[in-house]
Amino acid sequence: MGVVRVERLAKSFGKVVAVDGVSFEIAEREFFSLLGPSGCGKTTTLRCVAGLETADAGTIEIAGRPVYRADAGLDVPPNERDIGMVFQSYAVWPHMTVFDNIAYPLRIRKIPQAGIAGRVAHVLRILGMTGLEERRPSQLSGGQQQRVALGRALALAPSVLLLDEPLSNLDAKLREQMRAELKLIQRETGLPILYVTHDQTEALAMSDRIAVMCEGRIHHLAPPEEIYRRPATAFVLDFIGSVNYLPCRLAGADDSSVTLLWREEAAITLPRPPHLPPGPDVLLAARPESWRFAAGSAGLPGTVVLRSFHGAGFEYRVRLGETEIRVMTPNDVRVSEGEAVRIVVSEGLLLEPDALSRPEARAA
Ligand SMILES: Nc1ncnc2c1ncn2[C@@H]1O[C@H](COP(=O)(O)OP(=O)(O)OP(=O)(O)O)[C@@H](O)[C@H]1O
Ligand SMILES: [Mg+2]
Repeated sequence: MGVVRVERLAKSFGKVVAVDGVSFEIAEREFFSLLGPSGCGKTTTLRCVAGLETADAGTIEIAGRPVYRADAGLDVPPNERDIGMVFQSYAVWPHMTVFDNIAYPLRIRKIPQAGIAGRVAHVLRILGMTGLEERRPSQLSGGQQQRVALGRALALAPSVLLLDEPLSNLDAKLREQMRAELKLIQRETGLPILYVTHDQTEALAMSDRIAVMCEGRIHHLAPPEEIYRRPATAFVLDFIGSVNYLPCRLAGADDSSVTLLWREEAAITLPRPPHLPPGPDVLLAARPESWRFAAGSAGLPGTVVLRSFHGAGFEYRVRLGETEIRVMTPNDVRVSEGEAVRIVVSEGLLLEPDALSRPEARAA
């Protein structure tokens, strides 16, 4: 049974429906992310779980105990919900030392002094900050300050950590480093985490499962690889990673493959995707890494309009009729701008032609 269980949660602010019937369950030791664009309802969902916001409908359970039930009028206050929280603007107290910042939640719970010292030492060891007890936040780096905020959330050994864009104030390099540290801290503590972010790279890299949200609803709830490879809806497909769209005609399908025609001339054969639109007009959606340059007369004819270096490889923009296709290649594949090329695609999804104007349209 899940450590956190949210069922049919709903919350509006006046006419704005922020959360529209959201359900999910977070397992023991799970890193669970809510991912979606600005305004999709991530923070509101998290604040309802924390008890900082009162939902309009639904139920929330934490560690087997109901903390919110709309029908029963139950709404347990935040400090009795057995949670630790860190927000984007990490509120560490500038006038307190590292030790006092982390000890603060223990002191207000009237934990005996001896217990406090032991607990703070334990948390500092998990955070790799032993020896910095007497520093003040102004004497710490941004990453260290963020770890103090995390330390304060860990102090009371909560059942779950709620984190809302906790790394977004850090610069890119530090953010990447803190991602790894946060994962390691989670491994060590075994704490389940409910993580909120609009950064898909972060969510893909850190999460065991991701709930992708759009306009207050969960469109897809699955492990990162499945979200990336088999996005449930057009919205999820478009929001995660990059994707090329090519209008085609579905010319044939059997159990294992489909045949598409591009401009009635070039045939494309692909493994059969999970979803086949009624056709015959379809939109082929394929990631840049699913395309490559072909030798000889195979593939679709196009022209390279732009080449950009990405460190680990190149990205080419290839003009194909009215469409532009992005092709990611390893470093050893080099084609020049202006060159006539042929490109082939190895896998993709098929959407209905108007799917991009319907976020909820089925993709996989
Ligand atoms: N206190 C509030 N009063 C009125 N509207 C609110 C309030 N809080 C949130 N909203 C609205 O609810 C919707 C969801 O907001 P929420 O903060 O949950 O989004 P979010 O997914 O966290 O976005 P972001 O990535 O920008 O943080 C938005 O339309 C927002 O304007
Ligand atoms: Mg938010």
